[in-house]
Amino acid sequence: MARIVTIIGTRPEIIKMAPVVKALDGLGGHEHVLVHSGQHYDLRMDRVFFQDMELREPDRQFELQDQPPHLQVATTMRQIADVTADADLVLVHGDTNTTVAGALLASKQGRRLGHVEAGIRSFDKTMPEEVNRIIADQLSQMLFAPTPVARENLRRENVTEGVHVVGNSVVDALTQNIAVAEKRSRVLDTLGLKPRGYLLLTFHRAENVDGKAKLAQGLDAFEGAIEESGLPILFPIHPRTARRLREFGLETRAAALADLRRIEPTGYLDMLVLEKNAALVLTDSGGLQEESCFFQVPCVTLRENTERPETLEIGSNVLAGTEPGRVRSAVRRQLGAERGWANPYGDGTTSRRIAELVAAQLG
Ligand code: UD1
Ligand code: UDP
Repeated sequence: MARIVTIIGTRPEIIKMAPVVKALDGLGGHEHVLVHSGQHYDLRMDRVFFQDMELREPDRQFELQDQPPHLQVATTMRQIADVTADADLVLVHGDTNTTVAGALLASKQGRRLGHVEAGIRSFDKTMPEEVNRIIADQLSQMLFAPTPVARENLRRENVTEGVHVVGNSVVDALTQNIAVAEKRSRVLDTLGLKPRGYLLLTFHRAENVDGKAKLAQGLDAFEGAIEESGLPILFPIHPRTARRLREFGLETRAAALADLRRIEPTGYLDMLVLEKNAALVLTDSGGLQEESCFFQVPCVTLRENTERPETLEIGSNVLAGTEPGRVRSAVRRQLGAERGWANPYGDGTTSRRIAELVAAQLG
C-alpha cells in the first residue's frame, strides 16, 4: 500500500486541491494523508472552505501564524518532516510558501514529488510566487501542467520528463460547486446587489499592497474604475491588504470612496455567485483571472504581468497595472468586451486525471 501525502495551507490551495483530495481519497488501496501547514488560519481564509466544499478535515494540522516568509518555509519543513519522511508521493499545489516547503522537504528526504498547476510563469522573479513555482517544478517528478503553454514553459527550463497536461482543477472546483452555490448563497440579496450592477475587486499581491505609494495608487485606480463604469465596487478584502491600509494610514482615504464597499473575505459559494454576476472583475489574484474566464465575465488584472497568458489571448482578461488612467481605459474596454471565449483550463476532469496518473505511477 502506497502512502500519498498532500500538503495544503492557503485559501487557493484548499479550493483548488479540494477536488484532487477527493479524487485521491477515492482511489482506494492507498493511504492518503492530508496535511495543512497553517499558513492561512482565519476562519474566513481557511475553515469556511472546508465547510463550503465539504472537504474532510486534515489528518495533520499545524500552526504557523504570522511568521515572515523564510520562517514560514523553515517552520513548515521542520513541522511536516516526520509526515513526509516515508511518503511514496508528496503532492503540492501552486506557488505559496507552503508549496516550496513541501517541495524542498520531498527533495531533501528523497521522496517522489508531484506538483499540481506546474509550469505557469509570470517571468517576474521579483514575485515570491514565481520563485516558489520554479523551485517546485525543478524538484518534481510528476508535473501536472494546466495547459500546453505551461508545458512549453517547462520544456524551456529543460523539464520534460513526467509532464502531463491535465487542465486546471479550478474548473473541477467550479463545476462541482456552482449549482450548490446558486441554490444556497443569499449574498446578492444580503448585500443589496443586482446582477451586472457592481464591479468585484480583490487585491492582495505583495507588490501591490506592501508599499504605501503603490497601495495609494491602487485606491486612485479603484476610484477611476468607479467613475468610468458608473458602478460601485464590492471589495472582499484580504487580511494582508486590510492590515496595510491601517499601517500606512490609508484608512481615511479608502473610507472616503463611498462606492468602494469593503467587506470581509467571503466563503467560496458566495464568491462564485459574486463573480458570476459581476459586471467586471478587477483583481490581482491568480484564481480570479481563471474563474472570471470560466464565468464569461470580463477581467481587468491589476498587475504588469500574468502567469495566465491564455486569458489575455482569448480576450477575457487584460493587464492594466495600477496606474489610474490605464485602469480606466482597461475598464472601458473590458465592459464592452465580446463574451463567448472558450475556457482554456479544461473540462472539470483534472482531478480525476491526476488521480489516475498517480495510481498508475504508484502501482
Ligand atoms: C499567500 C501566497 C499568495 C496567495 C495568497 C492567497 C505566498 C508567498 N503567497 O499570500 O501567492 O495568492 O496566499 O491568498 O505564500 N493573514 C491573516 N490571516 C490569515 C492569513 C493571512 O491575517 O488567515 C495576514 C497576516 O497578516 C499575514 C499576511 O496576511 O502576515 C500575509 O499572509 P501570507 O500567508 O504570508 O501571504 P498571503 O499574502 O496570504
Ligand atoms: N476567494 C474567496 N473569497 C474571497 C476571495 C477569494 O472564496 O473573498 C477564492 C476565489 O474564488 C479563488 C481563490 O479564493 O478560488 C483565490 O485565492 P487568492 O486570490 O487568495 O489567491 P491566488 O489565486 O491569487 O493565489
